[in-house]
Amino acid sequence: MGTMVVFPFKTERPEVVLRNIRVAAAHEAVSEVLCVGYEEESTYRAIADASPGIAKAARTPVTLRLQDRIGTRRPGKGDGMNTALRHFLDTPHDRLHFYDSDITTFDGSWITKAERGLDLGYDVVRHFFPRAATDAMITWLVTRTGFAILFPRSELPWIEQPLGGELALSRRAAKALAADHRVAERSDWGIDTMLAFSSVQDRMSILEVYVPQGKAHKLYGQLTDLKRMLVECFAAVRDLREETLEPGIVHHVEYPDVVPPSIAEKVGYDVEGTIQLLPEAWSERQMELLEYFPIPIRDGMVAARHRTTFSFLDECSWYDAFEVLLQHFDEADEDWADLLFHLWTVRVLAYTHEAALRGYSYALRYLHGMVFRYLYRAATGRVLRPGE
Ligand code: LAC
Repeated sequence: MGTMVVFPFKTERPEVVLRNIRVAAAHEAVSEVLCVGYEEESTYRAIADASPGIAKAARTPVTLRLQDRIGTRRPGKGDGMNTALRHFLDTPHDRLHFYDSDITTFDGSWITKAERGLDLGYDVVRHFFPRAATDAMITWLVTRTGFAILFPRSELPWIEQPLGGELALSRRAAKALAADHRVAERSDWGIDTMLAFSSVQDRMSILEVYVPQGKAHKLYGQLTDLKRMLVECFAAVRDLREETLEPGIVHHVEYPDVVPPSIAEKVGYDVEGTIQLLPEAWSERQMELLEYFPIPIRDGMVAARHRTTFSFLDECSWYDAFEVLLQHFDEADEDWADLLFHLWTVRVLAYTHEAALRGYSYALRYLHGMVFRYLYRAATGRVLRPGE
């Protein structure tokens, strides 16, 4: 009996991770804290040094281990989470929580809220939180977009933050997810997509709990910082294209609170630096790959190589581009990866210009509306435009 809290980590600020471990170990519901490291580097050593003291003070075991090589993709966060799933199933604990280790706003309420959801019998409790209008651009423009296009009548596009690494599982849910080979294979950033998909396909009941203080993390620099995550998250969605999902599972979402100014007024990425990057890393091959795309997108992208232009990649065109990518994208091909990155960058700039500039509340209504318009188009073939 009891709850195990897991922090997968790579190289983080040790004081942040250690504070989070302390918070978890001190929580009354927690019977064990498990830290799963990518490699034995400075963060790992800092945890190894401090964890016996933390465990003693809290009278809760703190276990530290390296992640196993489980998946078939790039070894990354997915191997860490899958290692934790397997480790958990070898313990008697009946609940498993995951939290990113670098959250500076983490406190006991994250654990308490998830515990209450599990008390109510939900299989999965997912945390969601306010994010800046120009943050979460993979979540909105890739994952939720892809879920809307591929599974329009399912619950999947309605999950608020499918890439969120903060979630809690009942033992039954952990067992089912650990047994899913598609989850085990996703050793990279695609793990969150696969966990979300697999839990819906398995018809688990899901509660999304709201964390009003948000998950503080630094501003992404130019969008290049996110390139690997983008490619791996897109590939994870694309690999689901032959799957089917039945509509209707139990899925409840807590009503959100007022968004603090620190989030509503935050800029999520470096807009100027990103615009300056657009002409970089083009190849002739990418120009050839653009032949797969409708003419306005192709012409727009050719122009974007030489001058600042992005508004052509509006909401409807992104759907068109996404369909081409679903069909032809090849993850192993660097030119496809670069082209995906260019297309997504242009779409992020277009969205920033068409929606984010109008303010936080407009932008968030726009993004939720966009997911609806996409799933409506996917289900009915009828195109809805913003405002319709
Ligand atoms: C996302 C990444 C960028 O959620 O944090 O889209």
